Amino acid sequence: MPPTTDTTGTVRVRVHLDPADWSRHLAEETRRGLTDDPPWTPPVWFYDEVGSHLFDRITRLDEYYPTEAERSILAARSDEIAHLTGARTLVELGSGTSDKTRLLLDALWAAGTLRTFSPVDVSEEVLRTAATAIAEGYPGIAVDAVVGDFGRHLDRIPTGGRTLLAFLGSTIGNLDPDQRRAFLASVTDALAPGDWFLLGTDLVKDEARLLAAYDDAAGVTAAFNRNALVVMNRELGADFDPDAYSHRSHWDPVEHRIEMHLVADRDQRVTVRGLDDLVVDLGAGEQLRTEISTKFTAEGVEHELLAAGLEPVSAWTDPAGDVRLTLARRP
Ligand code: AVJ
Repeated sequence: MPPTTDTTGTVRVRVHLDPADWSRHLAEETRRGLTDDPPWTPPVWFYDEVGSHLFDRITRLDEYYPTEAERSILAARSDEIAHLTGARTLVELGSGTSDKTRLLLDALWAAGTLRTFSPVDVSEEVLRTAATAIAEGYPGIAVDAVVGDFGRHLDRIPTGGRTLLAFLGSTIGNLDPDQRRAFLASVTDALAPGDWFLLGTDLVKDEARLLAAYDDAAGVTAAFNRNALVVMNRELGADFDPDAYSHRSHWDPVEHRIEMHLVADRDQRVTVRGLDDLVVDLGAGEQLRTEISTKFTAEGVEHELLAAGLEPVSAWTDPAGDVRLTLARRP
């Protein structure tokens, strides 16, 4: 669809995603998942208002190290990143990281190179709130927000040289290897030669710590997981009984990823009105995979970047070596 543009002060919001289109896309993805064997659902269903709040609580749990670890790297290295890149435009894919993005914005601002901040998100509301707050905090900077799906609309992103595209928070871990290949290829395509890509990845570590991060003692992650069923009930007209499922996190050493599941405690028949009354039967003990969260090695990250045509230039970890930020460049 043609973009609609709305300019409020120094904030411009371009909408590349028609809400009806997006709903259709999510419905088809979910149908694909629920009819697969074993069944899965896309992680997007976690993030309604309740789920976003639960995720926020997760990031502050003792067991969940990635958010603080990444923040500490940005706090220590943003100035270096600003000087290495000299970026005029900072593009941020996905929301929920805007507070961390401020560390990068501060550094680029102080270096005097920053002209445009361009956050990209599927939610116009989330984007507008974030964009307005940033515009107020950084007078003189143009905020050029894009409502879009980073899986499909990267070609709509304003680059045009001296751009730093940031994808933080280990969100790339939600993608399987094929999806990562396609995504990274579209990043390369979106960038001009000499532009930069900053990628946050969680690293492979002790299994007990990984499992604890996805199955915390206070049960916040379990509530976050079950909330996806509540959201699908509301958004897709499904009739999941959230109380009939147990939260389970599992480490897959071959794919090196955490998988989150919901295990049916007893036989469940689910009907999804919004998917033409699709019926899903789960026997007692059968499970729905609700998320994959891939953990990387340094070599793995570099290999995937290089395979996509991006050249790793610098990389940093937090003192404990838990997560990694990699700065790469399109040659
Ligand atoms: C936001 C995708 C990075 O995979 O760690 C947190 C989401 N899931 N606890 C992650 C999540 C369960 C998180 N990401």
